Amino acid sequence: MKSLLVEKAWKGEAQQRVRSKQKAEHELDIAMVKKIGSRLGGSLEAYSRVLWDAAVPLTPMGSDPQAVIDQWLHAVAYGFECFGGTDPALRHSILNALAKAGLRATQPLLRNLLLEVAAIPSPAAHKFSFIDLFAGIGGMRLGFQAEGGRCVFSSEWDSAAQQTYRKNHGELPFGDITRMHPSSIPEHDVLLAGFPCQPFSHAGKKLGIEDTRGTLFYDIAQILKSKRPKFALLENVRGLISHQGGDTLRVILQTLTDIGYECNIPRECIILGSSRVIQDAAKRMVLRSNDFGVPQKRQRIYILLWQEGLIGKFDYPRPMQAPTRVGSILDPNPDPRLRLSDRLWAGHQRRKRDNELAGKGFGFGLVTPDSDCANTLSARYYKDGSEILVLDEVGLNPRKLSPREAARLQGFPDRFEVHSSAVQAYKQFGNSVSVPVIEALARQVAANLASIKRRGEPGRRSAGSKRGLAKLGSRTARLS
Ligand SMILES: C[S@@+](CC[C@H](N)C(=O)[O-])C[C@H]1O[C@@H](n2cnc3c(N)ncnc32)[C@H](O)[C@@H]1O
Repeated sequence: MKSLLVEKAWKGEAQQRVRSKQKAEHELDIAMVKKIGSRLGGSLEAYSRVLWDAAVPLTPMGSDPQAVIDQWLHAVAYGFECFGGTDPALRHSILNALAKAGLRATQPLLRNLLLEVAAIPSPAAHKFSFIDLFAGIGGMRLGFQAEGGRCVFSSEWDSAAQQTYRKNHGELPFGDITRMHPSSIPEHDVLLAGFPCQPFSHAGKKLGIEDTRGTLFYDIAQILKSKRPKFALLENVRGLISHQGGDTLRVILQTLTDIGYECNIPRECIILGSSRVIQDAAKRMVLRSNDFGVPQKRQRIYILLWQEGLIGKFDYPRPMQAPTRVGSILDPNPDPRLRLSDRLWAGHQRRKRDNELAGKGFGFGLVTPDSDCANTLSARYYKDGSEILVLDEVGLNPRKLSPREAARLQGFPDRFEVHSSAVQAYKQFGNSVSVPVIEALARQVAANLASIKRRGEPGRRSAGSKRGLAKLGSRTARLS
């Protein structure tokens, strides 16, 4: 018994020694990289310089080689597919290039370095992977990361949004998605896209996916067709439902059905139903931000899709039933420069009176700290802020929100780094999503992925082009 205890203690000590040796080596690695890095102008800079030449030929038109490098470093650090292909030779040549330059690329070392450039780093462990398209500043990414997702690829072409994205997530997104070959995008479980709403010029000609050519939706559909992720979340303005009398939505849903994806609107309804029936069903995919803890009236449609046959129906998250209050996002000591001048305030009031007399809508939206929620924050809030004015001091004019308050109104955490230009910051938060809404959706997606995993991974399904129509071939009655 005694010898057993001695052996156990000895083993424990030995393990402890190995652990401290590994820790010391790791610290030495970091010190060495920092030394090389400081010579080359920053630790990650050192890695980027070494990888630059290899990244240039693989960089798609409209993207920066730094996007390729950042993706590679994340892929090596967290063990997922490197941009440019599944061939293991690519990963080897990246590691060899670094080794030749005297730069080590162990996972703990790289993760540590990546922390340097990310205010909100990737989580250490993950349960599923996703890609972040039309990424803006990564609001959707934050929601899916919070539920165990790992981002393996991002794309956003606006350079100011790219800067904010890199500061916060540690990677420069790829640029124009229309210049990307779908097959070059890494495998993923979930595709995220908050894409701009555009009309389809061929809509109604029944060309299938070709109806959507020349729009950004076409590029999303091509990626879905090529990579077959299990789920996709498409976010858009509520107005998508009525855009072009419902034609835009109908073409989007028909295209997705053609390529083998389903959503909560039944296949029969999408294929045979009138625009009105589809529109009514789509209204159930609209969520309001103030139902998820942020004091903002924002309403958006969230089209949640899954590979045909993967699940029966998606349970959209239920409202939290918790009261919201504008005061919860306000600074106690706001910058006095946010307050409207007498002239500007008089102009707002005059326009509102004129509008009311002409029977038009209101000119501005006034809230107090006790209001339950504010109007929707728009990307043009920098103009005059008139959609949300805060009356927080008796006897003083109302004021605009600060960029930080705009961030909180969208549910971004305070450690999120805001762009240094207020104009860009308002634009970026106005264009973004309410993070808690995305988190609630991500929770449901993660739960579905976990139960799919428990019952065994399905094989990759082929696109079910026109399958729905064939199945319904005998059915000619038009649903209305
Ligand atoms: C509505 S915003 C999405 C914001 C994002 N969901 C977020 O959380 O910040 C749409 C974004 O798509 C970007 N975009 C538009 N066309 C693009 C393209 N061809 N390639 C890449 N990004 C594009 C815009 O710059 C804009 O930031």
